Amino acid sequence: MNILLFGKPGAGKGTQAPKLAAALKVPTLATGDVLRGAIRAGTPLGLKAKGYMDRGDLVPDDVILGVIGETLGRPEYANGVILDGVVRTVPQAEGMKRVLSTLKRKLEAVLSFDINNDEIVKRLSGRTVCEACQTPYTGHAAGETCATCGKGKLVRRKDDEPDAIRNRLDVYEKQTAPVLDWYKRDGVNVATIDASGSVDDVSKRALKALGR
Ligand code: AP5
Repeated sequence: MNILLFGKPGAGKGTQAPKLAAALKVPTLATGDVLRGAIRAGTPLGLKAKGYMDRGDLVPDDVILGVIGETLGRPEYANGVILDGVVRTVPQAEGMKRVLSTLKRKLEAVLSFDINNDEIVKRLSGRTVCEACQTPYTGHAAGETCATCGKGKLVRRKDDEPDAIRNRLDVYEKQTAPVLDWYKRDGVNVATIDASGSVDDVSKRALKALGR
């Protein structure tokens, strides 16, 4: 199963991705995590991405398509993947389709997490993430040790500051939201998931939409 998680920043994609991956027994791929890893490692990819990410702008399509092209063919993704925020523009959707088609695969579904902006600002203002494994937390202070991997320290993301959150929401409306119509026109099953309520409730809705 190749499933794309879609939605505004803070909608809960990164929280749901590992839960759905465990239920469906496939790995996850999150371009945000790949890019933050590249920034920490100081690679050319990270140097290219950093300014865009700190401001809350999208990293250019050619960079993202490079990541998609390099990763999706790896053996660990051969049986399917949960794609967390990997497609955010129409050219990326077209590029992803080409890559999957070369691998004789296709997207089975897009899960679009739906949430209002007030809840997003609340969630992102209180979020810390593990600098090592990227697990997001609410109600845990920066500096604590990650309870998931037991290694990394929790940090605040630069793009979770108010100006960057506003910009990310604006970028979502202008550049990312139109991708949903592209998928519908392309015949992909697009399911809207109510992303409010508890994490477990959202997981149940997502799995139900996938017929699980
Ligand atoms: P990325 O890291 O993917 O950020 P994002 O899309 O903005 O999404 P977030 O990680 O902020 O939110 P989320 O939906 O994963 O929510 P989470 O589960 O953490 O991308 C970062 C940047 O990288 C982009 O801005 C861009 O620059 C670049 N980039 C990445 N991919 C790109 C692409 N394809 N093209 C171009 N550029 C790209 O939850 C948020 C908080 O809410 C957490 O604290 C969590 O604990 C809490 N929470 C989650 N669910 C619930 C719930 N049900 N109830 C209460 N709290 C909840």
